[in-house]
Amino acid sequence: MNQVAINEETLQDVINIETGLLAPLTGFMGKEDFRNVVDNYCLADGNVFTIPVTLDVPENTYRETKPGDTLALTFQGKAVAELEVKSLFEVTPEDISKVFLTDETAHPGVKKELERFPYRVGGPVHLTDKSYLEGALRPEDTKKVFADHGWKTVAGFQTRNPVHKAHEHLQRAALELCDGLFINPITGWKKKGDFTEEAVMAAYHAMSQQFYPKDRVHIAGLKTQMRYAGPREAVFHAIIRRNLGCTHFIIGRDHAGVGGYYGAYDAHKLAHKLASEHDLGIQLLLMREPYYCKTCGQVVTDKHCAHYDTGRVEISGTIIRGYISQGYIPDELMMRKEIFEAILACGQIFIE
Ligand code: ADX
Repeated sequence: MNQVAINEETLQDVINIETGLLAPLTGFMGKEDFRNVVDNYCLADGNVFTIPVTLDVPENTYRETKPGDTLALTFQGKAVAELEVKSLFEVTPEDISKVFLTDETAHPGVKKELERFPYRVGGPVHLTDKSYLEGALRPEDTKKVFADHGWKTVAGFQTRNPVHKAHEHLQRAALELCDGLFINPITGWKKKGDFTEEAVMAAYHAMSQQFYPKDRVHIAGLKTQMRYAGPREAVFHAIIRRNLGCTHFIIGRDHAGVGGYYGAYDAHKLAHKLASEHDLGIQLLLMREPYYCKTCGQVVTDKHCAHYDTGRVEISGTIIRGYISQGYIPDELMMRKEIFEAILACGQIFIE
């Protein structure tokens, strides 16, 4: 059996396929699914799926492999999974720019994708080392947590940052609407300069312990890499939270965006289009940007405040990151001091 050494991100994909977190995927995408996802935002069977999930292999493995073979996937020298080969194909730079809407290597997702081999092997994958399921986020577990709380409706919240006042506004709005809130920060790979998993989790534990009612919020990390693919990743994030048992999913301003690559509400547009053409199995809460209005004296959005252009204090993760990295305390209008203190108590605040 041919062997392929996989990295941590690919292992996480295998685990997430095995648990059903990436359903309806049961393996790495073959050529037909890949083409449909890139060109039409759907798998070949018509199910909406917006981010390719593929296995890259070195050229010699690619040349030696044919449909019908089984590949042993190894991680740190040990066999962890097996893949039944159904399809072999190559990814082009054009495919990558269709996913990220840019070909600039300054984009962290494009850069990471270009570092992979272009050779892909698709087919059903099975985790053979089940020890990797211990501690994994599994749909049956989150569904049980929601059921035990008696929640009929649950809003999923994706994040890669410690909670600030704009996040809080979206979460409180969702808590008005739904029985429960599932805060599900990404704990896989993120780019240099982003907050560490420890800082994000510490901030959320402080928030839930000190500000949110205990029986309305559940927090757990999601082990998958950030792709920074903006609109496509917003829908991908919604699909994962649907699989985890959420009935609703929050998409705010520039969801999964980076730099200025995506418009503030491009993710809303794509999500709205796909939700109107297909049954996504989850309701999307498309929310606008909360800001602090000096006239209204509170955090508002342009949906219920007349002063967007006058006396607005923007609440932005980028601004907050800038403050903290230069040793300043963020304005309390943007971030609560209790959250800032929880972040400071973490050894490492930023990814180096
Ligand atoms: S993301 O990369 O995970 O999207 P972040 O953790 O900042 O980054 O965002 C989590 C969620 O909150 C996303 O749905 C995002 O659109 C939303 N969000 C973040 N900041 C704002 C903001 N200032 N206004 C509105 N929504 C926001």
